[in-house]
Amino acid sequence: MNLPDMKNAKKRKETKVEYKKHIYEGPLFGTNKKYYVRTYGCQMNVHDSENIRGLLESAGYTESSDIKTSDVIILNTCAIRENAHDKVFGFLGVLNNLKKKNKNLIVGICGCMAQEKSVVDKIMEKYKFVDFVCGTHNFNNLLNIISESVKSKNQQIEVYSYDGDVIEDIPVKKDNNYSAWVNIILGCDKFCTYCIVPYTRGTERSRKKEDIILEVKNLVKEGYKEITLLGQNVNAYGKDLYEDYNLANLLEDISETKIERIRFITSHPWDFTDEMIDVIASRDNVMPYIHLPVQSGSNKILKLMNRRYTREEYITLYNKIRNKVKNSTVTTDIIVGFPGETENDFEETLDLVNTCKFDGAFTFSFSPRENTPAMFLKETVDEETKMDRLHRLNKLINEYSNESNKKLLGSIQKCLVTGISEKDKNKVCGYTENMKLVNIEADEDTIGNIIDVKITDTKSFSLDGIHVK
Ligand code: SAH
Ligand code: SF4
Ligand code: F3S
Repeated sequence: MNLPDMKNAKKRKETKVEYKKHIYEGPLFGTNKKYYVRTYGCQMNVHDSENIRGLLESAGYTESSDIKTSDVIILNTCAIRENAHDKVFGFLGVLNNLKKKNKNLIVGICGCMAQEKSVVDKIMEKYKFVDFVCGTHNFNNLLNIISESVKSKNQQIEVYSYDGDVIEDIPVKKDNNYSAWVNIILGCDKFCTYCIVPYTRGTERSRKKEDIILEVKNLVKEGYKEITLLGQNVNAYGKDLYEDYNLANLLEDISETKIERIRFITSHPWDFTDEMIDVIASRDNVMPYIHLPVQSGSNKILKLMNRRYTREEYITLYNKIRNKVKNSTVTTDIIVGFPGETENDFEETLDLVNTCKFDGAFTFSFSPRENTPAMFLKETVDEETKMDRLHRLNKLINEYSNESNKKLLGSIQKCLVTGISEKDKNKVCGYTENMKLVNIEADEDTIGNIIDVKITDTKSFSLDGIHVK
């Protein structure tokens, strides 16, 4: 048993990051058995779940969409806000009932919640039916943990709190065959005071450029049209590993593989260089879509958040991107109700939104997280005020995203078709180069292809269009 230790999770560079290859030579103990994986949280978790599925299939398991007939159920969890926790504990209630009916069912928890001491304590005390908890650093060891669970009835807790390694060659079962996630940097060293990620995901550690480029080349060979480079802060890529090779260089090298679309998330304003902007501006297959979280428009709050930039520095960077990258789309993340945020501070955020006119934004209400510095600050904004600010902010954000979408009316946009539209089963949906969602009148066999679409109508969160052949 290895229990999470939030103090250790905070330490950095105690040990050198190791680069390892995944090997599993155990038995195919999952033959004729089924698994179900439920994913919460960010794209990195979505990609980790592809690895979790790949691991399970390498032991003979097959995927099921029905929890009632599954032999193994895994929740890949997120710890970013309290409501992410609530969803997981709610679903565990359902699984408890299933487990009463099927004693052989294996239930496991992976992901960021597994790294939290309070969560693991609660699972050990009140959710004894959970068979295992496996942390983010060792999920490549999942098959050994599951096979142990099949044999023994004891709850297993295998969570490591340290910088973490880079493990290559973990099996993967991809969600589709046209758009793929590619990790480039794991972990985070920014320690924004509200955020739990540096504690759940370890230190910033880049994958080796050769491994990344080889992976992309193979994806091109398999017919993938788009890749999204993943990292909590992709702009820090290479800093921990190379003297003079950074995200700009990596984007150039990946651009040469001729993959049709390259995306990258998330960019922290702190590490965004002019060189990166130039590469985005000059390479046709690097998409002009930049997600650049600002979090607040008040310098006082930015400082309390430890974001390492001022409002003015953010705006300067923002303008530079807008001026150099033609047809760029810039979106952001904003938190309201951070401890100490006054009405005046909040108005500075609204003012920043009015200055930047973002194409879109994800907005959140501050949620104190275990052991983060902001948890120890006195909460000064009550729930009602938080909700009121969120509402006012969303209204403004929607006005600008509406405006940004309206500009596209009548234009022809290249869209990667990703599936059947959720709004209208007779349509497909896809994304423009600027990452705008379009519901498209087109044949179903366009799924997985990049097609020309004429934009016929615009809304706040999506566009309508028709395939032009
Ligand atoms: N690495 C990314 C963010 C990952 S988390 C970055 O730095 O940009 C995604 C978003 O969740 C953050 O940008 C922030 O806006 C929000 N968030 C993180 N912790 C939060 C908390 N404790 N309460 C509310 N929102 C939070
Ligand atoms: Fe969290 Fe900040 Fe790291 Fe993003 S950069 S993951 S918000 S600590
Ligand atoms: Fe959530 Fe962990 Fe991602 S906390 S947002 S799943 S890195």
